[in-house]
Amino acid sequence: MQTSLTICVEDNPQAKEVLTDFQKIAELLKSLGIGFERWETEAPLSDTASPAEVQAAYKSSIDRIMQQGYKAFDVVSIHPSSPNIEEARKKFLGEHIHTEDEVRFFVDGSGMFYVHAVGKVFMLLCTKGDFINLPAGTTHWFDMGPKPFFKAIRVFNNPEGWVGKFTGSDISDKFPKYE
Ligand SMILES: [Fe+2]
Repeated sequence: MQTSLTICVEDNPQAKEVLTDFQKIAELLKSLGIGFERWETEAPLSDTASPAEVQAAYKSSIDRIMQQGYKAFDVVSIHPSSPNIEEARKKFLGEHIHTEDEVRFFVDGSGMFYVHAVGKVFMLLCTKGDFINLPAGTTHWFDMGPKPFFKAIRVFNNPEGWVGKFTGSDISDKFPKYE
């Protein structure tokens, strides 16, 4: 699976430009204020690595991000047999913002972020090795797909404050789900 960015006009999910070059994707996202990086492992990491092993494998990248003033991070692991997975998928399928940055590093697996900005929808398929920083106030939604699988490092300004403020728009219904 390859990281890609599909660009649509906000009222036409068909009008598409697709980028697969990482630098081009990162430059475009930067123009929207969104951070996007590739992180390399610093130590071998197995599919069944514990959160502590994940933390050790990405220590210098995590340290660099935490130095930007973040308060906490954790490691989450989602797979198709995780409890309440349908509810978990639905939770952020509607368009929303956060008052905190949404910062994620995909240790493994994938997920689709949809960013609604400048009259367009940017569908960003994140895969293993991708780091994304959606600044507070970015209008977006997220689909983990019908058989969700990802392991991610999440970084928080304030873990207690990280909730979605839903815009009430039905725009996310008009765009293809991550299948
Ligand atoms: Fe979100």
